[in-house]
Amino acid sequence: MLIGIPKETKNQEDRVAITPAGVHQLVSQGHDVVVEQGAGAGSRIPDEEYVEAGARMVSVEEAWGVELVLKVKEPIPSEYGYLRSDLVLFTYLHLAASEELTRALVEAGTTAIAYENVETDDGALPLLAPMSEVAGRMAALVGSHLLLATSGGRGLLVPGIPGVRPAVATVIGAGNAGSNALSQLVGLGADVTVLDLSIDALRRVDDQYGGRVRTVVSSPYEIEKCLLRSDLVIGAVLVPGRKAPKVVPHELVERMMDGSVLVDIAVDQGGCFEDTRATSHDDPTFTVGPATFYCVANMPGAVPVTSTYGLTNATLPFALQLAHSGWQTACQENTALSRGVLVSGGKIQHSAIAAEFPDLPAA
Ligand SMILES: NC(=O)c1ccc[n+]([C@@H]2O[C@H](COP(=O)([O-])OP(=O)(O)OC[C@H]3O[C@@H](n4cnc5c(N)ncnc54)[C@H](O)[C@@H]3O)[C@@H](O)[C@H]2O)c1
Repeated sequence: MLIGIPKETKNQEDRVAITPAGVHQLVSQGHDVVVEQGAGAGSRIPDEEYVEAGARMVSVEEAWGVELVLKVKEPIPSEYGYLRSDLVLFTYLHLAASEELTRALVEAGTTAIAYENVETDDGALPLLAPMSEVAGRMAALVGSHLLLATSGGRGLLVPGIPGVRPAVATVIGAGNAGSNALSQLVGLGADVTVLDLSIDALRRVDDQYGGRVRTVVSSPYEIEKCLLRSDLVIGAVLVPGRKAPKVVPHELVERMMDGSVLVDIAVDQGGCFEDTRATSHDDPTFTVGPATFYCVANMPGAVPVTSTYGLTNATLPFALQLAHSGWQTACQENTALSRGVLVSGGKIQHSAIAAEFPDLPAA
């Protein structure tokens, strides 16, 4: 199959949808891979590395003029002209947020498979997980940095030193992002508590850290008790398909210690702190009473090298299956992948997206 990788065009998007190792694997299985010139630059992958791995470097038109396009972000309006009925597009799509893009895919007859909707039988989202891992680990590091007095924080060194206490950290949500925040905080030597509604999630934390981390069932009462003694709070809750619940009210933040830091990873789902508003890497923080908030909705964007490799490690097995079997057979073989098909044959194929846009044709 002929597979194309265009350069990402969305503002501040430096990831790319394939690594040289991925190119090598596709090519060694008999496929042809074309990569747009400069597509890897933001992730520090020079064109020569792709060529060494077996790709051809091409123009943007050629990168789109293929059977299967692998991308990172959804097409933007300047790319709609490349959509065709004989094209399969595999990328993050977030269609519920854009009627314009959904209409463009339907009208072009493109087969659009969304990374974020690929879902295994146990409800796991394998193509979202690596980005939660990045965001979780980054939250611990960014939060630690914001505790420095030079960043406006409490002036605390997270691990403390012999004879001086470490920072007290609370993580709300022990899923993919939260457990990754936790691993870094433990590594840094913080005094950590994690809250979740799921006792199974807390059991996994307890098994892993053997008492080194306090686990507490989440409730407004326990959150208040933890936050009033915390230097750093990381919010990482998710209720799938819903806006994030507001687990930290404004009046509680007002009573926190001066210079404390709150990082809301769940900002992309509306945020789990009442005071959250989305910020960008250019201006990532704001203050609320005594506290500093960090609420960047695309945290992985700050570490495109790590994120590119993390994302492509997860997407490549699906891309190989699509290339090997064609999308229809691949979806029959792999139900997780089939759940990702949002548009094909000029119709919306997903009930929630169809309900969102009742004027567009649906299967
Ligand atoms: N900001 C970013 O750049 C970025 C990047 C990746 C992911 N995210 C977001 O991070 C959030 C977490 O993602 P995830 O992959 O860790 O999800 P996940 O499903 O793996 O984990 C969420 C956890 O929250 C728990 N939870 C739900 N309600 C709770 C409550 N009231 N109190 C305590 N815990 C509660 C769930 O039981 C679950 O364990 C999502 O909103 C995701 O979109 C943001």
